[in-house]
Amino acid sequence: MNLESYIRSTPDFPKPGIIFRDFTPMLANGPAFQEMIDRLKARHQDTPIDVVVGIEARGFILAAALAYALGAGTVLVRKEGKLPHATHRQEYLLEYGSNVLEIQQDAFQDGQRILIIDDVLATGGTVAATVEIIRAHFDVEIREIDFLMELDDLKGREKLADLPVHSVLHY
Ligand code: PRP
Repeated sequence: MNLESYIRSTPDFPKPGIIFRDFTPMLANGPAFQEMIDRLKARHQDTPIDVVVGIEARGFILAAALAYALGAGTVLVRKEGKLPHATHRQEYLLEYGSNVLEIQQDAFQDGQRILIIDDVLATGGTVAATVEIIRAHFDVEIREIDFLMELDDLKGREKLADLPVHSVLHY
């Protein structure tokens, strides 16, 4: 199946010069959504994963579906102020300004093998902050970081140099 045909590219959204890569057509199509999750699942068949970490907001959809397929749990990394329990927080830089990610302090048990997933790897700032917050506070093993789409020109992968990174589609 040509999964790329289920990604809709919209120029100049959300601002001029940006091409928005939208995976909602893939989500809306049962066989395409299933194929995407099955491809990701196949990568992790032989290496046990305890928890799939999803990054707000679109990463949640992928994390929940993949975790279910793998029989793993799901942990949410959220934008500031959304999680009810005590959290760890990590600020990260955007093109203009900054943002804060949070994770609950009891998110993991020591030694768990985890997988981080998001829809898009662009500059890498969001996922690098996610890795930082996890490494700073938890004794877990990050097995891989997966993306549906990677924007190669932005070289976000370089911010994750010491970790295995896999993207289903490249732009
Ligand atoms: C998008 C995308 C990634 C991030 C990638 O999320 O879903 O999480 O940006 O960009 P980066 O590699 O340059 O950090 P966004 O911040 O738009 O949040 P949303 O999913 O809640 O809309």
